[in-house]
Amino acid sequence: MKKVVAIYPGSFDPLTNGHLDLIERGSKIFDELIVAILRNPEKQALFSLWERREMTEAMTKQWRNVHVDTFEGLMVDYAVSVKASAVLRGIRAISDYEYELQMALMNRKLAPNLETVFMMPAEAYSYLSSRLVREIAQLGGAIGGLVPDLVERRLREKMDPALKFYDLGKRRTGKKG
Ligand code: PNS
Repeated sequence: MKKVVAIYPGSFDPLTNGHLDLIERGSKIFDELIVAILRNPEKQALFSLWERREMTEAMTKQWRNVHVDTFEGLMVDYAVSVKASAVLRGIRAISDYEYELQMALMNRKLAPNLETVFMMPAEAYSYLSSRLVREIAQLGGAIGGLVPDLVERRLREKMDPALKFYDLGKRRTGKKG
């Protein structure tokens, strides 16, 4: 039987627990799922493409059929290049629907054989977005439980680069706390 390859495209700036929830769900229904991180030269991201890729790889290595890649340009061109037949997108609330529908229909116009599959993350993540996580982190709010621990740590380091050197120092001297 034909192997179904799907891509899960997005900015992932940063990866949230909502994204991970969707990746886990997608890994169960597709033979291979490629998390495809967009390199968008027009948009200033908080995390570099390399940082986003590294964090996403670390957080998805538990699923053997999930891979991480980056792309630029048209998503449908990338999908064709990796022989994907489906695109996974998450819908959290009805407010997502209009934009997602427009994008799915435009992508269908560009690549009629590429199916967009919508999945819903767990209700607990229905209000979660990378944009809000960035904003809360930048304003010093608590983001525990919204993003994986690794991402939370990286966000704190972004906000206060001194922390990175403090943590590195602790690791070197073996000090706790
Ligand atoms: O995480 P996001 O920012 O909601 O993801 C949006 C994304 C990356 C899926 C969308 O912007 C995209 O596919 N961009 C690539 C360029 C493209 O194909 N544009 C035409 C969309 S119809």
